[in-house]
Amino acid sequence: MKKVITYGTYDLLHQGHINLLRRAKELGDYLIVGVTSDSFDRGRGKLNVRNNVLERVEAVRQTGYADEIIIEDYLGQKIDDIQKYNIDIFAIGSDWEGKFDYLNEFCEVVYLPRTQGISSTMLRAENQKVIRIGVVGSGRIARRFVPETSVVDGLVVTSVYNPNKESADSFAVDFSVKAFWNSYDMFLSNIDAVYVASPHLTHYSYMKAALMAGKHVLCEIPFTLSKHEADELYEYAESHNLVLLEASKTAYCPAFGHIITLVKSGIIGDVVDVKASLSKIVKPPIREYDAEQAGGAMNEHAPLTLMSIIKLLGCNYAKVEFFSKVESGIDIYTKANISYQHATASITLGIGVKTEGNLIISGTKGYIYVPAPWWLTDFFEVRYEDQTNNKKYFYSYDGDGLRYEIQEFISMIVNKRKSSYKLRRNESVTIAGIIEKYNLKENYTEI
Ligand code: CTP
Repeated sequence: MKKVITYGTYDLLHQGHINLLRRAKELGDYLIVGVTSDSFDRGRGKLNVRNNVLERVEAVRQTGYADEIIIEDYLGQKIDDIQKYNIDIFAIGSDWEGKFDYLNEFCEVVYLPRTQGISSTMLRAENQKVIRIGVVGSGRIARRFVPETSVVDGLVVTSVYNPNKESADSFAVDFSVKAFWNSYDMFLSNIDAVYVASPHLTHYSYMKAALMAGKHVLCEIPFTLSKHEADELYEYAESHNLVLLEASKTAYCPAFGHIITLVKSGIIGDVVDVKASLSKIVKPPIREYDAEQAGGAMNEHAPLTLMSIIKLLGCNYAKVEFFSKVESGIDIYTKANISYQHATASITLGIGVKTEGNLIISGTKGYIYVPAPWWLTDFFEVRYEDQTNNKKYFYSYDGDGLRYEIQEFISMIVNKRKSSYKLRRNESVTIAGIIEKYNLKENYTEI
C-alpha cells in the first residue's frame, strides 16, 4: 500500500485545497492529512486564521479524500510522521517548491500544481472590511506600531494625529500616512478605530473623544490613571457596541497566555505568591522623568507587572502598599506589596534603579520561573522540588510583540466581541485603580 501525507492550515476550505487533496490522494492508496494546530499557527506567525482547528479538521474530513487526519503541532514533526506512519510520498502545493527537499532523505517529495487565483488569504481579505486605523501620538511607541500592523490582516494605518505638526509630519512621511495636527475631529472623521500612544495624561480625553465619535479604541499603557475614568470609558464603549482594549502587550502574547492556562489548570498547585519586576534605566531629560507628564517608575511600568498579578490572583486584593525612592519629584524606584486573602504579590519597578526583570509564580506544588525580560515572554520553566519533573516551554515572541494585541483588537471588531478574556474590563479597571491609589499616595512610604 502506497501511503501519502500532506499538510496545511486549510482555513476557509476552498477549491484549491480540494484539488490539492484530490491530487495527493491520487498519488497513492492511503492519504494522511496533517492539519496545523491553532497554537502551532500562532507560533509561526500565522495570526489571521479564521477557523479553529476543529472546524478545519471537519472541513478536510468532509472532502472525503483523507483516510486519516492528524494534527501538526511542532516544527520538525513532518520527519517524525513520515517515519512513524511509513510514508512513501510527501505531497504539497507548488507554492512550496524546493522548500521540502530535505524530506527526500525520508520519502519521495512531490510538489503538486497549485490552483491559481484562490487562497485562504484572499478569502479572508474578501469577506472582511479593512479597518482604517488612525494613530494618536507619533513618539517611540507609535513608531513601533505601524510595522507590526503589516503582519495582521484586515487593517490599514491611514493617519496620524499629533498637535505638534512637525512630529506628525515626520511620522506621516516615514509611514506614508496622512498627518493631522489642528483638528482631532477631522482626524477621527475618516477612520474606524484609533490606537492611542500619546503621553499618559492625554489618554483619557483622546479615548473619550474617539469613542464618542463612534470609533473603536486600542490604548497604550497606562490605560488611564484613575479607576473611575477607566470604568466610565468601558461603560460607554459597551453600551455603544464599540471595542475598547488596553494595549497591555504581554497579556496577548502566546507564551504568557499559556502560563495563565497552565497555572489555572493547577500545574503548580494553589498560587501563593507572584513577584513581577520590570526596570529600564533611562536618563533625563525624557518624559519618564517629567513629573508634569505623570512620569516615574510606577506610572511607566506598573501596568504590565500588575496585569500579571491580576491575571493570576484576580481583582479582589485586600491591601496594597507602596515604597518609593524619589528623585526630582518622580519615583525612580517603586516596590508595591499587594496582599490577597490567601496569597501575596509584589512588583518591583525602576527607571533609575536596575533590578532583575523576572516573573516568579510560586505555588503549593511548584513554581513558574520566567526570566528577564519576562514581559517579552518567549520562554518559561515550571520547576518542582524534584527537579526531574521540571519542564521548559519555548515560544516565539515575534517582532516588537504588538502584533498579538493588534490581532486581538481586529478580531474583536470583526467578530463584534466587546470583551477579551485575555484582559477583561474589570482587570483593566483594577490595574488603573491601583495606579490611582499610588498617585494619591495611599499607604505610601518614601525610602
Ligand atoms: N493550495 C493549493 N492551491 C491553492 C491554495 C493552497 O494547492 N490555491 C495547497 C497548498 O499548497 C498546500 C495546501 O493547499 O499544499 C494547504 O495550504 P494552506 O496554506 O492551508 O492554504 P492557502 O490558501 O495557501 O493558505 P494561506 O493563504 O493562509 O497561506
